[in-house]
Amino acid sequence: MSIRRAQPWDLEAMARIAVRAYGPLPSISFLLHTNKDHAPDFIERFFLRNYQMDLGSTAPTKLFMVLTIDAPVHDTPKQVVGFAVWRLRPDQSPRRHPIEVEVLGSEGSCFDPHRSQLTQLKMAEATSRHINNHMELVELAVDPDHRRRGHASLLCKHRMDIAVEDKVPIGVLATDDGPDLYQSLGFDVKEKFIIADQRPGMEEELEFWAFEWDPAGKEQA
Ligand SMILES: CC(C)(COP(=O)(O)OP(=O)(O)OC[C@H]1O[C@@H](n2cnc3c(N)ncnc32)[C@H](O)[C@@H]1OP(=O)(O)O)[C@@H](O)C(=O)NCCC(=O)NCCS
Repeated sequence: MSIRRAQPWDLEAMARIAVRAYGPLPSISFLLHTNKDHAPDFIERFFLRNYQMDLGSTAPTKLFMVLTIDAPVHDTPKQVVGFAVWRLRPDQSPRRHPIEVEVLGSEGSCFDPHRSQLTQLKMAEATSRHINNHMELVELAVDPDHRRRGHASLLCKHRMDIAVEDKVPIGVLATDDGPDLYQSLGFDVKEKFIIADQRPGMEEELEFWAFEWDPAGKEQA
C-alpha cells in the first residue's frame, strides 16, 4: 500500500469512491433532500468536476493524496481505494506545479439550495471560529470494501507529519463517520454545531463537530 499525490487520471476513481462513500451518508441525504433519485449520477459528476477544477487550478491551495493498494490481477495498475483532500494554510507551499486538467461542463445542482446555504453559513462560522489558522482536512473517504484496515488513519498520519514539520495545526469539520476516526487519532473536539432546516414540514437537523490536532499542544503535553 502506498500514499502519493493524485494525478489527473486518478480523479475518476476518486469520484467513484466519493459516490460509494458519501452517497449513503446523512450529510449528503440532508443536502439532497427531495432530489435523492438522481443522487448517484449527480454526486459522481459533482465531485469529479470539483476535483478537476481544484487539481487544475493555476493557484493551487488544495493537496490531493490517494492511497493505493496492489491490484488483484498481476501486472495491472495499483488500485486507488481512498483519498484525502487538504487545504493548505496560505504560508504553506503547495509543493507542486500547476497540472493541466480537463473540466466537465456544469449541469446544475441537485442539492437543496436552502440547505446548501445553511450548511455553507454554519461551516463558515465554524471555520472562522476554530480552524482559521490551520491546515484543513477538507475531505476524507475510503471505499466501503476496504474499510477498518487503517487506510484513513494512514492518510491522516501522513499529513500530520507535515504539520509537525511546518509547525501548523490541523483542523477538520467532521460529519458522519469522521468523529470516531479523529478521536482515535488524538484530535480534540472544539465545538459541536447544528444545522437546522426549520421550514414547516421540512424540519431536519444535521450535526457536525470542529476538531483540531495541534502538534505544539502535543509536544507540551
Ligand atoms: C471515515 C472513514 C474515512 C474511515 O476509513 P477507514 O479506513 O475505515 O478508517 P481506519 O481503518 O483508519 O479507522 C481507524 C479507527 O477509526 C475509528 N473508526 C473508523 N471508522 C469508524 C466507524 N465507522 N465507526 C466507529 N469507529 C470508526 C476506529 O477507532 C478505527 O480503529 P479500529 O478499526 O481499530 O476500531 C470511512 O469510514 C469513510 O470513508 N466514511 C465515509 C466518509 C466520511 O464520513 N468521511 C469523514 C468525513 S469528516
